[in-house]
Amino acid sequence: MALPFPVLTAEEAAEMIQNEQNIGFSGFTAAGAAKAVPFALAQKARREHAAGRPFKVGVLTGASTGKSLDGALAEADAVSFRTPYQGNAVMRKQINAGNVRFFDLHLSAVAQQVRYGFLGKINWAVVEACDLTAGGGVVLSTSAGNSNTYLRLADKIIIELNARQPASLLGIHDIFEVKDPPGRGEIPIYSSSDRCGSPICVVDPKKIVGIVHTDLADESGAFDEPTPVTDQIGQNVADFLVGEIRSGRVPASFLPLQSGVGNIANAVLAALGQSTDIPAFEMFTEVLQDSVVPLIENSRCKFASTCSLTLSPAAMQKVVADIEYFKKRIVLRPQEISNNPELVRRLGIISMNTALEMDLGGNVNSTHVLGRAMMNGIGGSGDFTRNAYISIFSCPSTAKNGMISAIVPVASHIDHTEHSVNILITEQGVADLRGKDPHERARIIVEKCAHPDYREQLREYLRLLDKNIHEPMSLSMAFAMHRKFQATGDMREINWQEYCD
Ligand code: COA
Repeated sequence: MALPFPVLTAEEAAEMIQNEQNIGFSGFTAAGAAKAVPFALAQKARREHAAGRPFKVGVLTGASTGKSLDGALAEADAVSFRTPYQGNAVMRKQINAGNVRFFDLHLSAVAQQVRYGFLGKINWAVVEACDLTAGGGVVLSTSAGNSNTYLRLADKIIIELNARQPASLLGIHDIFEVKDPPGRGEIPIYSSSDRCGSPICVVDPKKIVGIVHTDLADESGAFDEPTPVTDQIGQNVADFLVGEIRSGRVPASFLPLQSGVGNIANAVLAALGQSTDIPAFEMFTEVLQDSVVPLIENSRCKFASTCSLTLSPAAMQKVVADIEYFKKRIVLRPQEISNNPELVRRLGIISMNTALEMDLGGNVNSTHVLGRAMMNGIGGSGDFTRNAYISIFSCPSTAKNGMISAIVPVASHIDHTEHSVNILITEQGVADLRGKDPHERARIIVEKCAHPDYREQLREYLRLLDKNIHEPMSLSMAFAMHRKFQATGDMREINWQEYCD
C-alpha cells in the first residue's frame, strides 16, 4: 500500500530546513544515522554561503554519526551547535577551532534535557527508518539513540526510508520514554533482556512532511587489528574479572557487562569472550561492536541490551542473514534507557571504558587531549562509571610512540573522579583502587599501570611530595609532564626540580 506522505528527494527535504533551525537526527555512532538529508543540507549550506547568505543549523543526535552527517556538515561549515558526542576528524577540528559550539553531555541525559527545554526547540526530526506505516508507525533502523524523543517533540519530521536496512529489524527495538519529574516512576526493567516498551515509535502522521527513499549502508568503519598491547590489556581485564569471581566479590553467575567504544574496548571484549574462566555473560551496554557478534553466535554472550548495532558491513551482513536468531538475543533501546543510571545501579553493571589519561589520584580524562583539545566527548562513560557495580578504565600505558604517558601526576581534564573510578588497567597491570587512601592509590597506580619508561620519574614525583597532607599532589609540579611534552614533544626524562617551587 502506498504511504500517504509526500516523497521527496534529499535536496527537496534539505531545501525546507532554514538557517538557525535545530535538527534532531537519528544515529548513535554511524549506526542508523540519517545520511542523505544531512549530506544534501551540507550542499545547500555551500550554495547559501556562496550566495553570501549565512546558513548554519543546530545538530542534535544520539552520539557520533557518519561522514555524511558530521563529516559533510562540518566540512560545509554548516553547524552552529553540536551535542552530545562526535567522533569525526573534521567536526573535531571545527569544535577545537571555535567554529562549532559543542556541548559535551552524558548520553543518557540528552533526551530529558531536550524535554526540559534546556537545549532549545527541535524544529526538525530527520530519522532513518527501515519501515513506516501509514498511521505514523516508525520502525527505527540499526540504532535507537534519541529518535523517539526527537520524533515526538519536533515540529516537523522527515523520514529517510532506507531500503538497505532490513524491515525484518521490526521487533528488535524496545522504545520507552520516561515521564518528567515530579511524575517520573520506576523503569520496569529488572534484567538485561526485559522489555517494557514498544517495537516502534508512533508519531503524529500530520508531522511527517516527507519521506526520502535511500539505499545507503551505515558508515561504520572497521577496527584496527589487535596489537600485543591491546591483547595484553584485554587479558588483564579478563584476569581481573576471573579473580573477582573467585574471591566471591562478583557472583559466580556473573554480572552484565558494559563496554565502551573504540579499538581497546573491542579488543577487551574479544579477550573476555575467549577466557574459559569467565562464564557466558550478558551485556547491558550502549554500543554493540564487531567482537560481540561471534560471541552471540557461539553463546558466550547470552544477551545484549544496547542502543546501537555499530557493526562493520561484514558483521552486519552476518546479523541480517540470521536476523531471527539475533533478535532473540539483542534489544535496541533509546539511550535514555540503555544508559540509564537507575538501571545501571540496579542491574549491577561492570563498566569497562577507555581513558586518554589516568592520574595518580585515580581520576580519569576521557575527552580532552592535554586538557584542551576535544577528542570525542564523554559519551556514555559517565552514565555507567558513576553507577557501576565495578567501574574499570583501561588504556595503553603510553601514547604517540611512548612520548606521552597515560599515567600522569594530575589529569589535565577530569571526566571521572576518584570517587567513581574503581580499577585502572594498562598492558602493564591492574591497579585496584577500592578502599585505598590517596597515597596508597598513587603508589599502586605507578607500580601496576605506568610504563617502565615513566615509572621511576613518577616515583621521584611522589618522593618529592609533602607526606603530611591528605592528597599526594603538588600545585607546581601537577602538569610538569604535560608542559614538558608541549615544550619538547616528549614527557620522558623530566627534571622535576625545574618545576618545583
Ligand atoms: N594524550 C594524547 N593523545 C592520546 C592520549 C593522551 N594521553 N591517549 C591516547 N591518545 C590518542 C591516541 O594516540 C590516538 O590517536 P590517533 O587517533 O592519532 O592514533 C587516539 O588518542 C585514540 O586512542 P586509541 O588508543 O586508538 O583509543 P580508542 O580508539 O580506544 O579511543 C577514547 C579512546 C578515549 C578516545 C574513546 O574511547 C572515547 O572517545 N571515550 C569517551 C567516550 C566513551 O567512553 N564512550 C563509551 C561509553 S559506553
